[in-house]
Amino acid sequence: MKTVEIKNYGGPEVLQLTEAVTPSITDPSQVLVKVRATSVNPLDYQVRRGDYPAVFDLPVITGHDIAGEVIATGEAVKKWQPGDKVYYSPRFGSSGSYAEYHLTDESSLSRMPENLSYEEAAAIPLIGGTVWEMLVVRAKLKKGDTILIPGGAGGVGTLAIQVAKSLGAFVYTTGQSVLHDQLRDLGADVVVDHHNKNYMEEILAHTKGKGVDVIIDTIGGSMLSDGPLVLANYGRIVTLVDIAQPQNLIHAWERNATYHFVFTRQSRDELHHITELIEAGHIKPVIDSVYPIEAIRDAHHRMEDSKRERPLFGKIVLSL
Ligand SMILES: NC(=O)c1ccc[n+]([C@@H]2O[C@H](COP(=O)([O-])OP(=O)(O)OC[C@H]3O[C@@H](n4cnc5c(N)ncnc54)[C@H](OP(=O)(O)O)[C@@H]3O)[C@@H](O)[C@H]2O)c1
Repeated sequence: MKTVEIKNYGGPEVLQLTEAVTPSITDPSQVLVKVRATSVNPLDYQVRRGDYPAVFDLPVITGHDIAGEVIATGEAVKKWQPGDKVYYSPRFGSSGSYAEYHLTDESSLSRMPENLSYEEAAAIPLIGGTVWEMLVVRAKLKKGDTILIPGGAGGVGTLAIQVAKSLGAFVYTTGQSVLHDQLRDLGADVVVDHHNKNYMEEILAHTKGKGVDVIIDTIGGSMLSDGPLVLANYGRIVTLVDIAQPQNLIHAWERNATYHFVFTRQSRDELHHITELIEAGHIKPVIDSVYPIEAIRDAHHRMEDSKRERPLFGKIVLSL
C-alpha cells in the first residue's frame, strides 16, 4: 500500500511517499479501513519535526484524521461490516492516517455523517472531538454566554465558532480582514483583525468592561496570563496548547477564573455529538484546500508558511 513515512525528523522534505505491506487483522476486535481521505493538523508537523520523540519510534507514519470504508473485520466485531463508511482519529502514538489502509480497534470508529463526502468528513475527527470537549464538557458553554475564540480561521476555530453558535452563545473571534465575511457567515458576531488591532481592548470595549464568559486558547503565548483581562467574573479559560514557560496568573485570581487543559483523547462518544450537529445542518466542515496524498509536502508547506499569499481558512484535506 501507499504510505507517507518519516524516517528522520525535519521539514516537509522528510515526508516520503513509499510502499509498505498492507496490514492485516491479528486481533478479533480489529477492523481494516481503506482510507479515502485524511487531513493535515498542526499535530502532524509537530510529530514530523520531532516534538514527541518519546512517543514515536522512527520510521513513523503520522496523520490524525481518517474518513474511509471498512474492508474487513475481526471475528468479534459485530457493529461494523465491510462497506460501512466510518470516520475517526487514530489513537495518538499509534500508526497514523497517511496510508492507503489503516488497522484499528473497532472502539475507535464512528459512523460517517450521511450528508458528507469522504473529503469533507476527513476534516472533522480530531478537531470535532476537541471542540466538543472544550466547549461542552469543560467550559459548559450555554445559551446566552459570551465566548472569545482567537484564531477563528483555523481548523479548530472554524468548527468552534459554529458549535458555539449552535449552543446559543455570542461569539467573538479574530482573523485577517479579508476573512471577516466568511467568519461572520460561520456565526461569529464580532470579528477583530488581530494583525492590525489589539483584540483584547476591542472586546473589553464591546462588552463594556465586563469581559467574556469563556475563552478558548488556540494560540498560546501569553493567553493564560493575559486572558483574564478580558474574562468576566467566574469565567472559564480552556487551553489546547502546551505551556512554553511559567505563567503569572494573578489576574485569574482577581476574576475567580477556572482553567481547563485539554489534550484530546480520541473518543467516538464526543464525535457522535458533532455527527448529530452535521446531519441536522447546524455545522459543516470548512475546507481550505484539497491535495492528493502525493503532494503531501505542499500541503505541509501551506499549513506552516507564515507568508502565504492567501490566508488559511479551515482544514487542509488530503485525498487518497
Ligand atoms: N490539545 C489538543 O488536543 C489539540 C487538538 C487540536 C489542536 N490543538 C492545537 O490547537 C492549535 C490550533 O489548531 P488549528 O488546527 O486550529 O491550527 P491552524 O489551522 O493552524 O489555525 C491557527 C489559527 O490561529 C491564528 N493565529 C495564530 N496566531 C495568532 C495570534 N497570536 N492571535 C490570534 N490568532 C492567531 C491563525 O491566523 P493567522 O495565520 O492569520 O495569524 C490561524 O487562523 C494548534 O497549536 C494545535 O496543535 C490541540
